[in-house]
Amino acid sequence: MVANNSVIIDLKKICKRYGYGDAAIFALRDFDLQVKQGEFIMIMGPSGCGKTTLLNVIGLLDKSSDGTYTLAGHPVERISARKKAKFRSKKIGIIFQDFNLIPTMNILDNVALPLVYAGFTKVRREKQADEVLSRFHLQPKEYYMPAQLSGGQKQRVAIARSLVSDPEIILADEPTGNLDSRSAHIVMEELKAIHEEGNTIIMVTHNPSLTTYATRVINMLDGQIDTDIKTVADKDLPEPVSIHFGKKKEKE
Ligand SMILES: Nc1ncnc2c1ncn2[C@@H]1O[C@H](COP(=O)(O)OP(=O)(O)OP(=O)(O)O)[C@@H](O)[C@H]1O
Ligand SMILES: [Mg+2]
Repeated sequence: MVANNSVIIDLKKICKRYGYGDAAIFALRDFDLQVKQGEFIMIMGPSGCGKTTLLNVIGLLDKSSDGTYTLAGHPVERISARKKAKFRSKKIGIIFQDFNLIPTMNILDNVALPLVYAGFTKVRREKQADEVLSRFHLQPKEYYMPAQLSGGQKQRVAIARSLVSDPEIILADEPTGNLDSRSAHIVMEELKAIHEEGNTIIMVTHNPSLTTYATRVINMLDGQIDTDIKTVADKDLPEPVSIHFGKKKEKE
């Protein structure tokens, strides 16, 4: 355990506006958030309060309308599109609220897809996809198509895909929302193990009983933070994985 986990995500006065004029909706309003490496944050709040919007901004899938976002020391506004794509494919794993699996690809290829963008060889992609699928007990389904799986199985495939490139930041939008309690347990134990390795997790959930896994619980309301409670002191967070967005020796 170390005390100096650094700030990896720093949002200052972030606004996200949809539409213009009288029709404008602010999904995020002057949103300030500092996330330290090794935090496991659960985000809760009513439907429409901006949870998915927040994950999309943090995951570089969407741009804020105003404010500043600094990711691992880099001001996001100044990161090139190419570098953003690289961050997304190697450093950030996103588990979407709807599964976003590609219907014409089998399970193995779906899970291996982020590694295509990361430039890995086919043999290595399949090996890593196979390993992560076995962690979620899905190896027997590798050559199935998404339509042949149940909702819970599809969700687990989507989670496996988000983890295949060993990302240091995992953003999860209700990853257990469609799961029976046994599958939800598998997923939460896996996220717990990933967190204990020193990775940073931000997860949206409607299920208060899952907050026992978190080191910090944030309640949102109308695009802002309503309450923000740390349940684990910063000094007791897991020792962070070394994160160097930019030049980093890749693990082979
Ligand atoms: N593409 C869009 N265009 C216009 N408005 C949008 C768009 N995406 C989201 N919004 C609006 O922004 C607000 C926040 O939406 P968001 O999806 O972030 O909510 P949420 O907290 O994730 O809700 P849920 O719990 O239902 O998933 C909502 O009022 C929504 O209607
Ligand atoms: Mg949502």
